[in-house]
Amino acid sequence: MSARNKVRKAVFPVAGLGTRFLPATKAVPKEMLTVVDKPVIQYVVDEAIEAGIEHLVFVTGRGKAVIEDYFDIQVELEQTLRERNKKVEIELLEGILPAAGMTSFTRQQAPLGLGHAVWCARDIVGNEPFAVLLPDMIMRGDKGCLKGMMEVYEQTGGNVLAVEECHPDQAHKYGIVGVGKEVGGGFEITKMVEKPAKGTAPSNFFINGRYILQPEIFNILETQERGAGNEIQLTDGMLKLLEKQGFSAYHFRGETYDCGAKDGFILANVAFALARADIRPSVEEQLKALLAR
Ligand code: UTP
Repeated sequence: MSARNKVRKAVFPVAGLGTRFLPATKAVPKEMLTVVDKPVIQYVVDEAIEAGIEHLVFVTGRGKAVIEDYFDIQVELEQTLRERNKKVEIELLEGILPAAGMTSFTRQQAPLGLGHAVWCARDIVGNEPFAVLLPDMIMRGDKGCLKGMMEVYEQTGGNVLAVEECHPDQAHKYGIVGVGKEVGGGFEITKMVEKPAKGTAPSNFFINGRYILQPEIFNILETQERGAGNEIQLTDGMLKLLEKQGFSAYHFRGETYDCGAKDGFILANVAFALARADIRPSVEEQLKALLAR
């Protein structure tokens, strides 16, 4: 594959209002809420870096400046840690710091929708394919979701979406894809339907919040009218792109937690805590006691 086609940049739309987490999100962006001891956004950035992403593009909004600070050096803190010889903590902070020049931040002045947020990254992304990762969704699997998508992309090119299977009764809650022939370890997407009416979904495969898109999406989003929720929807833009370009699906077979919803966020904390050897025994014991009440 030519260098022009490599997916080097990932866009993280973090400009939403996070109304489901009010009052916390009055002062703290939901992407900075912690799952065990890391902010949600860190999990998603780790997934992008594991997949070989070289540049992180954050589309932020008002009240989100703390995200930019999080990805910077905290000089006073690190100085104090050095004075106290806190080697483990210093290493931890150094390990998560993106390389100089590896991040870009742009603003979506008004939360006009996910499609609009992605469009705000157009100049930073330029004329090359890119990934979009919804920071609400954090995933666990043998292999990162975006890494798996990259493997499909290497075979198919074009646009790649990650999908997962839902119970047929739940399909009306999601963006559902139509299943075509097998390609590159995934399958061809024949259609996309946002929140299909009950009993009409073309499959049980829903789009889980990870996308590899070609830059032609930007021109489409530029003139995209508002759709569901009076917002400029990414799915509406992708539907137009599907008329001109191929879309493939990567079937992610891991666990996904929707940290934009209260139950998903709490479950993520439980699941990630149980996966940690240092705290599992105590968490497990206390959870059992709680459930027995
Ligand atoms: P959501 O609709 O789940 O996030 O958007 P939200 O609007 O922040 O949450 P609620 O519904 O009010 O609780 C999915 C992702 O798209 C981003 C959000 O930040 C989130 O990561 N987004 C959404 C934007 O960046 N801009 C928008 O205008 C809308």
